[in-house]
Amino acid sequence: MQQQTMVVAIDGPAGSGKSSVSKAVARRLGFGILDTGAAYRALAWSVLDAGLDPEDAGAVIAHLPAFALDLGTDNTGAIVHVGRVDVTAAIREPRISAVVSAIARVPEVRRELIARFRVIAADAPQAGIVIEGRDITTVVAPDAPVRILLTADEEVRIARRTAELVGSSADGAGEQLRRRDRADAQVVDFMTAAEGVTTVDSTHLDFEQTVDAVIDVIDALGGRG
Ligand code: DC
Repeated sequence: MQQQTMVVAIDGPAGSGKSSVSKAVARRLGFGILDTGAAYRALAWSVLDAGLDPEDAGAVIAHLPAFALDLGTDNTGAIVHVGRVDVTAAIREPRISAVVSAIARVPEVRRELIARFRVIAADAPQAGIVIEGRDITTVVAPDAPVRILLTADEEVRIARRTAELVGSSADGAGEQLRRRDRADAQVVDFMTAAEGVTTVDSTHLDFEQTVDAVIDVIDALGGRG
């Protein structure tokens, strides 16, 4: 990436704790946060809002110029807007999770959103930015000084996801998580660390220990700037 902002790139599968850990790390360092998954989710919301079929790649591509994404980098909880609509809560709904993989696998969509991510990161008001997603360490910011793959065993990820979703059964959450990981892994490999990427396995760590482990990697690599 060609900008002055210090970039910490974090990838990982659903339920790895990536989003909450990345936010906590950003807060501790005073860095911004760029949740790239939120952008794919916001596009899914926008496609549904426009009455389009998320499986229709042509329609989704044609919708891109009208997709007015405003994604904040505030580490206290970035607000996501599409046009004037605050979609921060709506993009977490199950109806979005169910269709977002179909949208994220369209190459033209990825190209367009990756270009927008680079602009957001370069323009971030903070000294550094934590960018989290699935292809950040490999495609979006392969030259970032700090690149981390955050993993956890599947059973642990399912248990965490179930605890997050009030009223959901382990079976339902497990099946949804497996289905989405399978679909997403067809597009980009986020289960194995690319060369030069440090793996942090949170299977046996609690939340604070995971945040500490990530900060240790950042410090070891001189990522505070
Ligand atoms: O991390 P998340 O669950 O909010 O991501 C939503 C979807 O977006 C997920 O199904 C995969 C996709 N995604 C992607 O393909 N590439 C990224 N960098 C981030 C997310």
